[in-house]
Amino acid sequence: MPKITILPQNAAAEVEAGLTLLEAGEKAGVEMEAGCFNCSCGTCVTEVVRGMENLEEPTPEELDVLDQWNKDPEKFRLTCCVKLREGEVVLRQAH
Ligand code: FES
Repeated sequence: MPKITILPQNAAAEVEAGLTLLEAGEKAGVEMEAGCFNCSCGTCVTEVVRGMENLEEPTPEELDVLDQWNKDPEKFRLTCCVKLREGEVVLRQAH
């Protein structure tokens, strides 16, 4: 099963594949920052410290929002719309 870890809390959980990062983070017991839940507001933008290769590729909509927030899509993702595929992913919440 994929594993998610959220920093700085260092909260971790094993979760089923196909959950969004937001859902996986909440399973790890972390209150995840979010607004629209629909890949359009950017409130949920979060740094991916490790495991970017274990996430789905960004959609054009996600890339647009990341661009508006001036966030590099190779380091940051929107947790409400990205699904965990496999392996281990480490996120750092800045909020
Ligand atoms: S909650 Fe709005 S983009 Fe994720």
